[in-house]
Amino acid sequence: MVSPHLPKLLSPTTVGPITLSHRVALAPMTRLRAEADDSPSPMMVEYYRQRASKGGLLITESAHPSTDSRGYLGAPGIFTDKHVAAWAKIADAVHEKGASIFMQIAHDGRQSHVDLSGGHSPVAPSVVPYETTVFTQNGWVPNSPHRALRLEEIPKLVRSFRDAAKRAKDSGVDGVELHNANGYLADTFLQDGTNKRTDAYGGSLENRVRFSLELVEAFASVWGADRVGVRVSPSGRWGAISDSDPETTFGYFAERLSEYGLAYLHVIEPRVMGTETLEEGQVPVASAFLRKKFSGPIIAAGGFNAVDAEAILQRGDADIVAFGRWFASNPDLPERFRMNRPLAAYQREAFWGGDEKGYSDYPAYEQTETV
Ligand SMILES: Cc1cc2nc3c(=O)[nH]c(=O)nc-3n(C[C@H](O)[C@H](O)[C@H](O)COP(=O)(O)O)c2cc1C
Repeated sequence: MVSPHLPKLLSPTTVGPITLSHRVALAPMTRLRAEADDSPSPMMVEYYRQRASKGGLLITESAHPSTDSRGYLGAPGIFTDKHVAAWAKIADAVHEKGASIFMQIAHDGRQSHVDLSGGHSPVAPSVVPYETTVFTQNGWVPNSPHRALRLEEIPKLVRSFRDAAKRAKDSGVDGVELHNANGYLADTFLQDGTNKRTDAYGGSLENRVRFSLELVEAFASVWGADRVGVRVSPSGRWGAISDSDPETTFGYFAERLSEYGLAYLHVIEPRVMGTETLEEGQVPVASAFLRKKFSGPIIAAGGFNAVDAEAILQRGDADIVAFGRWFASNPDLPERFRMNRPLAAYQREAFWGGDEKGYSDYPAYEQTETV
């Protein structure tokens, strides 16, 4: 798929044992269209099928490993046999088109509500008051107050991630991605704005990476490290997350992750390349910096178009670029890039929840031409 205008973006690469024929990946996007029991819906099978291309890589929306880790109504789970069967339909549909698919797994931590988490209070490493709105059966409502995890609860939590990774494997996907970004549970352990613990999981850098590394090891014990990816957002503010020294924290985390021989490190870039700018005082820790700390493949994401993507790959700061919103409205995004075709606009109001409209009804380019 070599293209004269995007030679690097449309050239082959590898992720663990998987060969990709281009570097346009689907970024994980929660679209809140799962069934009431958290099983992926037929609509979701169609959505992922449409975005699969020969030799492409898709990363799923985040799936929760237990009821009490759920932060959104309509998000898919990966903790029952029914979930496995439904994810298997997605994996099969994607494989039929010659693509690979990694499942993102996340505990939503303090970004939740008792109505979503089976009556349990949302949990976090520490209590750091935080207000947001979350999507429940009653629409968007204020989140519930969270409580600090007790030390003795952590092993069970890690086991729930390992079980989810096993179920993901049973479903036939190609690997798993730890959602260590955007202020969800693992991220709140890593960053010191939300981790105030004084036990083995808080304080020093070594202690703050402990929870994430235990999750990585749990995933790797099921999959082998070369089919495990980790996503980080060193400059993100989603979930009111913060760190007093992101460069040191994420640099150290990337170095530790580097020891495992992971499939990839997935980095959400500061929005310097898109239309959004950094917030005042925000330290831009990006792929270019983490590249020096992490020896495996890097996936960059966040505000990219084809030209920006080609540029970061040419600079050597990343190996693959994940596209979120543009892939939402252009199911044939890699082909549109290859043919230099115009992109369809996305409908933000259809991002979270709803039916096929604004989700699986975006046509590929050829279909647009013929209607
Ligand atoms: C509707 C929507 C849902 C998202 N859900 C997730 C998610 O489940 N997991 C995650 O890591 N990031 C999630 N993100 C962030 C995207 O993966 C991506 O980092 C972000 O959209 C920036 O990339 P883009 O400019 O290409 O859209 C979501 C973004 C959007 C727009």
